[in-house]
Amino acid sequence: MSTTSCPVVRRIAVMTGGGDCPGLNAVIRAVVLDALTCGMTVVGVEDGYLGLIENRMRELTERDMLGILARGGTILGSNNKSNPSKYPVGQNPPPPAGDGKVIYADVTRNCLAHLRERGVEAMVVIGGDGTMTSAATFSQMGLPVVGVPKTIDNDIEGTEITFGFQTAVATATDAMDRCRTTADSHHRAMIVEVMGRNAGWIALHAGVASGADVILLPEIPFKMEPIYTKIVHRSKRGRKSTLVCVSEGAAPLGGAKVVARVDPTSPDPIRLGGVGKWLAEQIEEATGVESRFAVLGHTQRGGTPVASDRVLSTMLGHHAMQLLREGKVGRMVAVQHGQLTDIDLREPAGRQRLVKPDEPLIAAARGVQTSFGDS
Ligand code: F6P
Repeated sequence: MSTTSCPVVRRIAVMTGGGDCPGLNAVIRAVVLDALTCGMTVVGVEDGYLGLIENRMRELTERDMLGILARGGTILGSNNKSNPSKYPVGQNPPPPAGDGKVIYADVTRNCLAHLRERGVEAMVVIGGDGTMTSAATFSQMGLPVVGVPKTIDNDIEGTEITFGFQTAVATATDAMDRCRTTADSHHRAMIVEVMGRNAGWIALHAGVASGADVILLPEIPFKMEPIYTKIVHRSKRGRKSTLVCVSEGAAPLGGAKVVARVDPTSPDPIRLGGVGKWLAEQIEEATGVESRFAVLGHTQRGGTPVASDRVLSTMLGHHAMQLLREGKVGRMVAVQHGQLTDIDLREPAGRQRLVKPDEPLIAAARGVQTSFGDS
């Protein structure tokens, strides 16, 4: 049974937006079971804001929640391209008749109409900073909304942890442990590229957990010389291998991040990737130490959530429902100083929580002789 009495609303919608991450289903389960316990009904919006725009939703029942706690991905589907405030609705004719540009429209009112048609009175939105920005717009237009932050990157402003992060770190750590044994056998430098966009949280945590000798973060521009020195020094001292954990957003001092692709259909069009390959080539050429790279990519986003992410997801989902029942809307649930709390939905918009230079884990890593390529 739920801890608070209910309900102020009778019917809610739940949606997952942005890139997926492990633990989304655990939040959906927490929200839906809590709502059903309170006598509310729930509709699931399919494929994030795209489903809201295209009016694709389905009723969610207790049966739908069976076995999803440990399942990766999202049973609702997600989408990291659709922004209801700027949705592509057509294209001008190509020159000479027109400029060929995509025509955008604000379809937020259509989305609200779709929810009204189905009798939805409030919505729980699970997503990242972009998803929260749109959620804030709906909230300002009068829809009671509560947000739940998600991302493997752990970079949402206002919360010190997001679910999905701990699973990504566990996956990356396991992969690096494996890379270490093969690198040892062949006396190689092994460069492992992890995700994280502009934040180095995954690289920092997985790098420390796997005992990486070099950790390169977007927040600390690196120089090549200290990396070469470290590798050569290790090789001379008989160390079998050197493990380098590089965040996809890391860049050399004065250099640019490596962009894998630009997706003009996405509100956040830059996709980073490729720095690992570049580093392996530079290292091999400069040091003569045979080097290989591995890009962990979406393996970090997929698969079953670790226990701590299932717990966090359940806590956050439950807290979101508590806020909804208390009528405390326009809020995003958050963790601050280890405690559940809530912040204004607009707070994370356009911001990223980056690793600060005085992060205690950086000092601890330096303490165990890890190089950040900066000295
Ligand atoms: O934000 C999560 C994330 O996995 C980033 O770490 C990564 O840069 C990006 O999404 C990849 O996006 P996509 O799935 O569109 O390639």
